[in-house]
Amino acid sequence: MLNILTIISHNLAFNFQKLTSMFINRFGLILKITFYLLIVTFLFFECKPGKDYSPQALGQRPDPHSFSRPDITAAKHLNLNLKLNFEKKIIEGRVDFTLSLPHGNEFILDNLGLQIDSVFVSAGGQKNTAKFANGITDSILGQPMIIPVDKQTDLVTVYYKTSPEALALQWMDPELTASKKLPFFFTQSQSIFARSWVPCQDGPGIRFTYDATVEVPVGMMAAMSARNPTEKQSSGIYQFKMDIPIPAYLMALAAGDFAFKPIGPRTGVYAEPGVLERAHYEFADLEKMLITAEELYGHYPWGRYDVIVLPSSFPFGGMENPMLTFATPTILVGDRSLTSLLAHELAHSWSGNLVTNSTWNDFWLNEGFTTYFESRIMEQLYGKEYADMLSLLGYQDLQKTLVDYGTDNPLTKLKGNYSNPEDGLSDIAYEKGKIFLRYLEEKYGRPAFDTFLKTYFHQFEFSSMTTEKFRDFLSVHLLNNDSSAIHDVDSWLYGTGMPAFMPSYQVNRFKAVDIFADKWKSGQNPSKAMTTNWSTHEWLHFIRQLPVTMMSDSIKLIDESYSFSKTANAEIRFAWIQFGLESGYRKNIIPSATEFLLHTGRRKFVLPIYENMIKVGFRKEAEELYAQAKSSYHPITRRSIEEAFEEAK
Ligand code: BES
Ligand code: ZN
Repeated sequence: MLNILTIISHNLAFNFQKLTSMFINRFGLILKITFYLLIVTFLFFECKPGKDYSPQALGQRPDPHSFSRPDITAAKHLNLNLKLNFEKKIIEGRVDFTLSLPHGNEFILDNLGLQIDSVFVSAGGQKNTAKFANGITDSILGQPMIIPVDKQTDLVTVYYKTSPEALALQWMDPELTASKKLPFFFTQSQSIFARSWVPCQDGPGIRFTYDATVEVPVGMMAAMSARNPTEKQSSGIYQFKMDIPIPAYLMALAAGDFAFKPIGPRTGVYAEPGVLERAHYEFADLEKMLITAEELYGHYPWGRYDVIVLPSSFPFGGMENPMLTFATPTILVGDRSLTSLLAHELAHSWSGNLVTNSTWNDFWLNEGFTTYFESRIMEQLYGKEYADMLSLLGYQDLQKTLVDYGTDNPLTKLKGNYSNPEDGLSDIAYEKGKIFLRYLEEKYGRPAFDTFLKTYFHQFEFSSMTTEKFRDFLSVHLLNNDSSAIHDVDSWLYGTGMPAFMPSYQVNRFKAVDIFADKWKSGQNPSKAMTTNWSTHEWLHFIRQLPVTMMSDSIKLIDESYSFSKTANAEIRFAWIQFGLESGYRKNIIPSATEFLLHTGRRKFVLPIYENMIKVGFRKEAEELYAQAKSSYHPITRRSIEEAFEEAK
């Protein structure tokens, strides 16, 4: 091979020489100079690094889900200037990128549907208009925006507008809010939607600091994943600063009619006025959670930890935006039984926000660690039995997911290889990831495992982590380089299904539920007294074990006894609707499902109900319902439901 290459290159050199001498002989010195100049110009424009956007070259990007190339040129700071235009449902924006020096000759940003108006590059305060190129659009990732920069460029400015369809953004008319007075707006950037509201280097392996000036209509409040105001500004202009480097998916903004109420010295809650008191009651233990988390895994470096309760169309349960978790109102059930969600989002301050998954293929590092950490916080605060009860419900979810996927499905591996990062969002990353850590804890003992985790968070703070780097660190710091232990770890990380390990959960409270459920299953009507003091979790455990073959009359009796069809507890209502749809009670459950789908937009609830309605023969009803509910859903939820309709055709 080498020989062939040598021959070819000799031949080329020989031909090149022959060609050149022909030119010199015939046309003299002037042409010779022109010829060399042409070659130099050609080399300069065509052989720059990062110029090749062929699919092969794109496969070599550091992050398969981002077009940006921070290895060539990276921005270390973003200065955002955003004006929210509620009439047009767009953001009119300007962003200044401070580049890290030295850098290469292209600055590449991710763009998902943004209209770019103009671009400027500056060097030492000297500003010039810049030309930029757009790469080919990918239906999932959007398109690269390529800005040529030279050695001295230290600042790039982009003027842009978002699209009214931007995937990260929900613009809500006043009627859709709790107080119905002012509109509401919020972002959801994870996984790859930051690029739909800010042109940016949108991969979790890239970090930057930011400040922002945000203008909202007078009378509205704004809050970001940053230091936040506690009072409305009469000007409608708000300033923000996040001076710890974060990845783009943690940029977040909310605007609406909300107020703040402190909980502890470092914690507090933001919510619409009509929701604030309920939220404040429900989140009473927030400060205690923060202290507990610090005791477990070390200093909390973000300063404050506040939570904002968003309208019920928020597509997730919670989102760990630094300093300000975004949360669904569906956890406000009145008995504080769903606050493990706060423990979860708080835990992300370490697992995710401090040590961040390098790409979305390492998503389990964020969610598996967090789900484990969440459980440790709950155990510390409310005892082992309570934590085990929640863990057991999570474990049941995992069993179901494994059956649905099939245990040899590549999607059941912890280390992912997702064409769309959304594919990683399943119980595998959360629950299999958690059980894997639980396995390590049981094998090496809690004290050793806790020391390991504390060191891990400390050593890798403010950096990103791949599954491989974690594996190496684990091998040295916990497994003592034992090859058989590493082999077992590999089957957790890279194998499908579940290794033979069963976590040992002791849940006495569920034993009473089992006895109660057995009575119903054998045709008896047990005394209501048996359910005194039951929380959301006991009811879920009860509903989950009812056989779908149960007689419709018995189901009706259960429904009448405990008002499941009408309950305002979304977790219980969801479980009941799903059970109803799968059983002979399906016709009777439609009114409850309809009302629920019209008032909740949390994807974890609404998507499976639409899917199930289609599956059990209510496609027409589901379509009509969706047409009615659609305008109240977040674009991320909408897209998933539309895909479900499409796939089920
Ligand atoms: N970071 C996730 C939410 C997320 C993941 C959004 C991937 C977009 C893409 C958040 O921490 C989370 O896991 N939320 C859960 C609640 C939690 C208690 C399991 C949710 O939203 O249901
Ligand atoms: Zn999470």
